[in-house]
Amino acid sequence: MDRRKFIKDSCAVCLSAAGVATIASSCTPSRFISGSLGKDGLYIDTNEFVNKQKGKGNFLSYIIVRNEALQYPICVYRFNETEYYALWMRCTHQGTELQVAGDYLQCTAHGSEFDNKGTVKTGPADRNLRNFPVTVNHNQLFIDLRAV
Ligand code: FES
Repeated sequence: MDRRKFIKDSCAVCLSAAGVATIASSCTPSRFISGSLGKDGLYIDTNEFVNKQKGKGNFLSYIIVRNEALQYPICVYRFNETEYYALWMRCTHQGTELQVAGDYLQCTAHGSEFDNKGTVKTGPADRNLRNFPVTVNHNQLFIDLRAV
């Protein structure tokens, strides 16, 4: 096999594997919950992150909190048992509600993209997503909404 054909074939295999991984991660169904609204924020049971299809010890990387009291949903990413990020799903460009695709949030209006910590990865948005402080107390998360 000549060098050029080897590189071409190797790249095709790598791109196929990357494509399958991307499709697989974006096909994981999103879990929507409403949470419990308190005076200063939302309460969520950490068991909401348990991946019921795979069983105990397997966790979803995120859940989406959709509550009628909120103008936009909040995507809560779980990094480990003590680290969570709660992101306001409002595009910082012109306010369109974002869609979650695995570890990214995407805007269908003009294509902005944000990572799972709310950092802008693709414009036209030029500001990171608003995020809310999250505290963990035993099996409960508190998302502080006082800054909304
Ligand atoms: S409103 Fe999201 S990219 Fe324009």
